[in-house]
Amino acid sequence: MRITSFEQYKEVYQESIANPENFWSDIASHFIWKKKWDKVLEWNFDEPKIEWFKGATVNITENIFEKNLPQYENKNAIIWEPNDPKQKNITLTYKELFEKVCQFANGLKSIGIKKGDRVCIYLPMIPELAIAVLACARIGAIHSVVFAGFSANSLSDRIQDAEAKLVITADGLNRGAKEVSLKTIVDEALKICPSVKYTIIFPCLAWEVNFKENHDLWWNDVIKNQNNYCPAEEMDSEDILFILYTSGSTGKPKGVVHTCGGYMVYTAYTFLNVYQYEKDDIYWCTADIGWITGHSYIIYGPLLNAATSVMFEGVPTFPDASRFWQIVDKYKVNQFLTAPTALRSLMAYGEDYVKKQDLSSLKILGTVGEPINAEAWHWYHDVIGKGKCPIVDNWWQTETGGIMITGIGSFSPLKPTFAGYPLPGIEPVLLTPEVKEIQEHDVEGYLCIKSPWPAILRSTYGDHERCRLTYFSHYNGYYFTGDGAKRDENGMYRIIGRIDDVINVSGHRFGTAEIENAINENELVIESAVVGYPHPIKGQSIYAFVVCEHDVLDEFIASKSILETVTKEIGKIALPEKILFVSALPKTRSGKIMRRILRKIAEGDIANLGDTSTLLDPAVVTEIVGKAF
Ligand code: WTA
Repeated sequence: MRITSFEQYKEVYQESIANPENFWSDIASHFIWKKKWDKVLEWNFDEPKIEWFKGATVNITENIFEKNLPQYENKNAIIWEPNDPKQKNITLTYKELFEKVCQFANGLKSIGIKKGDRVCIYLPMIPELAIAVLACARIGAIHSVVFAGFSANSLSDRIQDAEAKLVITADGLNRGAKEVSLKTIVDEALKICPSVKYTIIFPCLAWEVNFKENHDLWWNDVIKNQNNYCPAEEMDSEDILFILYTSGSTGKPKGVVHTCGGYMVYTAYTFLNVYQYEKDDIYWCTADIGWITGHSYIIYGPLLNAATSVMFEGVPTFPDASRFWQIVDKYKVNQFLTAPTALRSLMAYGEDYVKKQDLSSLKILGTVGEPINAEAWHWYHDVIGKGKCPIVDNWWQTETGGIMITGIGSFSPLKPTFAGYPLPGIEPVLLTPEVKEIQEHDVEGYLCIKSPWPAILRSTYGDHERCRLTYFSHYNGYYFTGDGAKRDENGMYRIIGRIDDVINVSGHRFGTAEIENAINENELVIESAVVGYPHPIKGQSIYAFVVCEHDVLDEFIASKSILETVTKEIGKIALPEKILFVSALPKTRSGKIMRRILRKIAEGDIANLGDTSTLLDPAVVTEIVGKAF
């Protein structure tokens, strides 16, 4: 499975595109299948219907445990580093993790959770989060992890959409100096979630909770007396492994559906190659398991490869800005993966926090989640990697399941701000607005993918038509990523950013409509328009133009009230950085908000507002510009 040179990559790539079925069946043969496939791939992008390893049955956890245990029983699977450096860390060997997963899996079964049931996991970054995810996979329950920074409303939307039967949470969490009572949020969310039969609570902080008899269960009671072996459920390759909610340009977040066989093969293959993991390496991805990066590259990809995966509960700047680098030294981390936003914020604290650390264990540095600017790239390369570690810039999405365009290990060419080349099996194309493939190099276009790879999303939960409309209808016959990209003279890709109404704040995706809907819930507000604008640390920030019912007498109080509403509807992570109260929004005669103009205003680029003559009332723009500057 491992590619070891750039020359080999080029050959493998050609083969993978010329004959994808052969290519992927070779890779898939490295895994344990309960039953082999009848057909490697069947697909069309029209419905869409995509089936990998058709007819095969498998359990992803058998490929983590049964496959790896004979050789790696006593190897650390997870090293958990707590938020507070004074607290003790936790290590779990493959054997220990397996036993905990089985015990919890048996516990889930004992309360009636079975194959196909949806389980919502709303936990801090503690080992139990990984255990819960894997226990669901063991028994074929579908996990839906919700990032523990989302509000009760967001949580209940996701629980209801998936019709989850169970919620797994903790009493509370510690993140940096902050504490959050998760159980209180869950209680609030569950007021309108009739599908939920039980809530399992892990006692993380030994807080008192409002314990509801006949509904709430303590984690320790669920696992009490449970056997530490649980047989792996036989899953069809195309059975759902998990749902993960993500924001798009319209409506509420949608549940991206990933299935068992293809996701397993693809995350394992991409992890091994991109990070060139060797058997004694220590790998650390700083993401939260609430996002796709944590699913694919803290849990599944690394553990399928019998890697040691570090899991960190805290934040980069607590207790101070050397925390990441201290952890790298503490565990002698070899591969390190983080987001540009974390790098930019640490960069702002200065090099003193890095200089005290050795960091000589590092071999490969990864970046993911948003475009990395040249300054952050160089800082990462020079200050963290001391000029000797390659940077692999991983472009991919919740919907793609795994890394798509990237550098590989230490041998692919490096070019700051360019993600790199497509991985084997990935056929990116740049399209014009007229849906023509741009063949030349040194061009820009809409980034689409021409053929399926094993971890492509299969559906959006409960609404397949939405999946078709969002990803497969804009450009007939292609998977549409929502990103714009550039291809240089050597065929390397640089991701420019979203071309749809998705804003990427600190590597987290939000739809403009989603935030507008939240703002509009505020009783003062008639309507609003939200755009993204460049931010030096977060990458992008949210700018809200708000129309209120009455003249706003005290903008400070009104802003505060709107921020509270957004916190309640989505969570603090989606707060606008700027709110501008205006008397009207710029609209076309047909009533469409001209975001292009608002984006220019938010960027401060008022010299290039473009043609405003098609607006219903061009004077609105003059007013907004006058207020904004
Ligand atoms: C952006 C995160 C530039 C992109 C894995 C994509 C990136 C969205 C990169 C997906 C990168 C992700 N360079 N942009 N290396 N990685 N993006 O679903 O706009 O949270 O469409 O998946 O993040 O975000 P998501």
